[in-house]
Amino acid sequence: MERVKATVVSNERVQPAMWKLGIRYDSLVREPRAARFLMVGFPGRTDPLLPRPFSVSDCLQDGEGPLTELLYKPMGKATNLMTTLRPGDGLNVLGLLGNGFPAPAPGKRPVLLAGGIGNAPFAFQVRELLAGPYREKASEITLFLAGRTATEIYIQPWVRTSGITIVEVTDDGSRGEAGRITDALRRRLPMLGPIEGFACGPTPMLRALKTMAEEHGFPCHLSTEELMACGYGVCNACVVESAHDRGTYIKSCHEGPVFECREIIP
Ligand SMILES: Cc1cc2nc3c(=O)[nH]c(=O)nc-3n(C[C@H](O)[C@H](O)[C@H](O)COP(=O)(O)OP(=O)(O)OC[C@H]3O[C@@H](n4cnc5c(N)ncnc54)[C@H](O)[C@@H]3O)c2cc1C
Ligand code: FES
Repeated sequence: MERVKATVVSNERVQPAMWKLGIRYDSLVREPRAARFLMVGFPGRTDPLLPRPFSVSDCLQDGEGPLTELLYKPMGKATNLMTTLRPGDGLNVLGLLGNGFPAPAPGKRPVLLAGGIGNAPFAFQVRELLAGPYREKASEITLFLAGRTATEIYIQPWVRTSGITIVEVTDDGSRGEAGRITDALRRRLPMLGPIEGFACGPTPMLRALKTMAEEHGFPCHLSTEELMACGYGVCNACVVESAHDRGTYIKSCHEGPVFECREIIP
């Protein structure tokens, strides 16, 4: 498993508790796909010792070469340290790892469901969809951006002007509709027609979406965020329970992190 050097090109706070980090490395030859992830380590540091997993948030080519964006929420040692990174700083990265979201099935409308920092993979998924089957029908892509409060709602500005449909939802009603992401989705189900869900967010949200998808009979792919130590299948830190064989566990770094909701017990 090859660890490569990445160089920080930007690091900015985009919401009170959300940051966007731009890094350069040869990401475009590593099969980028929405919800694949990187293990990010800090050269020359023993604390934090272990690398941490982050979804690729966006991946593009600018005048200077391939640019990868990560969105992160400072919540502990590694993510607080990340807020101090400056352009020119180096990082060790491993990946891209994991499976990522599958391409949407023909005839089903893609519904992207983001909770809090679970918004991270969706800019790249929108980029992929607009470069492919949804080039001429951006408005058929619906992105639900949910958070507890207004400051948890974010998506890259280019996504907002891309022509896709965006629905904002906050628990406290401070931005968009008040309530849960499942409430907002349930209200729209009759208008949306056949859908395929792609979700990333806190585990209770993934559980609620699994229940709803099973009740209403639509496919829904969940990007799980289990704690990880290695990122490539050797440590067993990241297991998630199989729904087909209760009591057996699947390595989410290796077979996931994306699972169709009927495959796992999140
Ligand atoms: C596949 C994958 C993709 C991810 N993508 C992103 C992303 O794009 N942006 C982002 O901000 N975060 C993402 N995460 C979560 C991120 O890896 C953790 O926030 C990070 O490891 C925390 O490291 P830390 O040293 O800052 O915090 P720590 O000091 O390790 O932890 C601080 C607190 O957060 C808890 N915690 C740590 N990791 C998780 C987790 N995965 N789920 C729930 N609680 C956790 C710990 O138990 C502890 O209470 C992802 C996780 C996975 C598995
Ligand atoms: S993180 Fe080590 S096996 Fe998945």
